[in-house]
Amino acid sequence: MKTQKSSLESPHFPVMLSEIIRVCSPSKGGLFVDCTFGGGGYSKAILKFPNTKVIGIDRDKEVLSIAKNLESQFKKRFKFYQIKFSQMDTVIENNVDTIIFDLGLSSMQLNNFKRGFSFKSKEKLDMSMGLTNLSAQKVINTLSESNLKLIIKVLGEEREASKIAKNIVKERINKKITRVDELVKIIEKSKKNNFSNKINPSTKTFQAIRIFVNKEISELMDGISKATKLLKPGGKILIVSFHSIEDKIVKFFFSNFSKNKSNPSRYLPENKMDEELIFFEKYVNKVIKASKLELIKNNPSRSAKLRYAIRSKSEFSYPKNFYQKFSQYLNLEATNV
Ligand SMILES: C[S@@+](CC[C@H](N)C(=O)[O-])C[C@H]1O[C@@H](n2cnc3c(N)ncnc32)[C@H](O)[C@@H]1O
Repeated sequence: MKTQKSSLESPHFPVMLSEIIRVCSPSKGGLFVDCTFGGGGYSKAILKFPNTKVIGIDRDKEVLSIAKNLESQFKKRFKFYQIKFSQMDTVIENNVDTIIFDLGLSSMQLNNFKRGFSFKSKEKLDMSMGLTNLSAQKVINTLSESNLKLIIKVLGEEREASKIAKNIVKERINKKITRVDELVKIIEKSKKNNFSNKINPSTKTFQAIRIFVNKEISELMDGISKATKLLKPGGKILIVSFHSIEDKIVKFFFSNFSKNKSNPSRYLPENKMDEELIFFEKYVNKVIKASKLELIKNNPSRSAKLRYAIRSKSEFSYPKNFYQKFSQYLNLEATNV
């Protein structure tokens, strides 16, 4: 059996670091918030520029030792908080220059088999990133078949969700499903006639359970709204996402609340309500992808998409239609366990 790797054995490769630095220009100085500190790759690179201050955030207590080291190295310029990024407004005041999100898991989390994120693990079904009272084990053994099916189908975009949910419930009648390899076996059995050779058969189900355990959709939506509120005019919000649900949410937020939407037609009167909901300069719907060189060095970068938007003013109103638009995901995440 593979033993657990320590963070130092598998440090995280910061995805699209040079593109992040190019977009947020730390050479000009300013206050930066690294909402997904992880191995600290972005924070360390920004702190190399002398006039910068960085606030690091991560929900995972496993990153504390890396963060504490950085705090002692940059006493006046770096501060870390172990909170969820949806809570960032409890520790940060307005007037931030740049806020960065690098969503999903770090390789430290994925490669630590005790955390239960990797389908190569034979350890307990956990999948908590920190600061949640749910575990994959609880979700898999407690939810009804129909709720499991919906979660796997919608949050994992898994076509075989129905069979997988049915087989999970069938198995757990005999014995509680406690280990990662037990779940992997059920998924493989359920998909035996429908293997894609591109991705592991467990990828989508694991994505769904992980999103549900950590409430990643509501985290992203609250995180992006709060970040927008805290940015100063001209400030930038950068988001690296890894799957289509995340990218759909980011793209909608940036384009729907930008100046592109302010006056869809010059024949229409200005709408006061719309005016309140313009947070960003004209949004260029452009995705930045990792360079060919990075793809050779770091395979996970292949699915990374970087988008950014520039704040047009400091006022902020609650974006009700953003939450309405994605209510299907939010309602699913709120399912009682
Ligand atoms: C992809 S890693 C970031 C890696 C980092 N950019 C680096 O260069 O090392 C994502 C990190 O974000 C954290 N994270 C994910 N969702 C979060 C949330 N809602 N609040 C705070 N931290 C979160 C995870 O615990 C993980 O450490």
